[in-house]
Amino acid sequence: MTQHATSPALDQARAAYDAFRARGLKLNMQRGQPSDADFDLSNGLLTALGEDDVKMDGLDLRNYPGGVTGLPSARALFAGYLDLKAENLIVWNNSSLELQGLVLTFALLHGLRGSEGGWIHERPKMIVTVPGYDRHFQLLETLGFEMLAVNMQPDGPDVDAIERLAAGDPSVKGVLFVPTYSNPGGESISPEKARRLMGVRAAAPDFTVFADDAYRAHHLSDTERDEPVNLVTLARDAGHPDRAFVFASTSKITFASAGLGFVGTSEDNVKWLSKYLNAQSIGPNKVEQARHVRFLEGYPGGLEGLMQAHARLIAPRFRAVDEVLRAELGTEGEYATWRVPRGGYFISLDTAEPVAARVVELADAAGVSLTPAGATYPGGKDPTGRNLRLAPTRPPLEEVRVAMQGLAACIRLATEERRAADEGS
Ligand SMILES: Cc1ncc(COP(=O)(O)O)c(C=O)c1O
Repeated sequence: MTQHATSPALDQARAAYDAFRARGLKLNMQRGQPSDADFDLSNGLLTALGEDDVKMDGLDLRNYPGGVTGLPSARALFAGYLDLKAENLIVWNNSSLELQGLVLTFALLHGLRGSEGGWIHERPKMIVTVPGYDRHFQLLETLGFEMLAVNMQPDGPDVDAIERLAAGDPSVKGVLFVPTYSNPGGESISPEKARRLMGVRAAAPDFTVFADDAYRAHHLSDTERDEPVNLVTLARDAGHPDRAFVFASTSKITFASAGLGFVGTSEDNVKWLSKYLNAQSIGPNKVEQARHVRFLEGYPGGLEGLMQAHARLIAPRFRAVDEVLRAELGTEGEYATWRVPRGGYFISLDTAEPVAARVVELADAAGVSLTPAGATYPGGKDPTGRNLRLAPTRPPLEEVRVAMQGLAACIRLATEERRAADEGS
């Protein structure tokens, strides 16, 4: 970049940035975590079981017996959450990401139903959506999958692109994406697209849809909602009964580090997965499962009531992001475009110029910590250079506002620097 290029707009942007930086703030907008007020809603979990509550469903919660599929009451509760039958569900421990890793690892070692053998022998490829979730990319990279990126569109993944990739190559084993209020863009797959996805033509007989439905119930409003789809049923209706694994957890419902992860799939897939889980565990933590059953069933309005209470805390933060950015950057895309989703945990923003990395650098120097540029693409490399993930759920509302003022100043400065340099070159 030409150091000496300048313009009145650049001078103004630099003055605004310097003024913000001089405030010496320390704000964090990169963590997709609940706020303490969200956690406080679930503190009843800590006392949901009394000293005498050692049994549920006729099982001693303290002892081994019960199997790997989970406590029957917990299976029933979370089957309802995924709109499935209890037989279609395994309730595991505290992380749905761990469950995704387990299923993918077993597929690599042994193959899924319909596989000729472990995928590891085939240099497997996995389709992912971009912008997407950095931990999905990290997991797939760690397990040795080659990633093929397709765009996330306003109504879900680009299914035409998925079909093009899957139809011609048997080593394309599936797609991993977030079906409801995606991370980071908040897009949800439409029923029509979901139907098409479950019927996609694939060269691999064991092509599988891995759906991480982390934000299935995380609406921001009671009235304007994206309706989650039932991929397991759609897979069966499309003639591919074993094609869908749907993962979810209560990490953003109760406690992020002490919730429950679960997976919904065909009954045959439940048997397949149980066999391998059983080789490495006598069973999941039944005390935690029983606590969740007691707490969520006892919460006013149940799980839905709890999600409404979360929405009352989270929705104002999303509104604040939009209001401040509109006021500071306008709505015409001169500096950036973004869309406020109807649910989920994030807002995805694209800068008008390819300056995302510079924005993160400027923000860091001004005390506003953002998700690293590139994190929303495999390998941390955003070919557009424009995408930023904003995570407004954790900081107090007033901090969200101030952080967005700072972000806007950084975006203006980075953009004007680039435009002045382009004009000067
Ligand atoms: C899309 C998505 N999946 C999974 C997770 C983590 O889930 P868990 O805590 O159940 O492993 C997150 C957390 O931010 C997420 O955004």
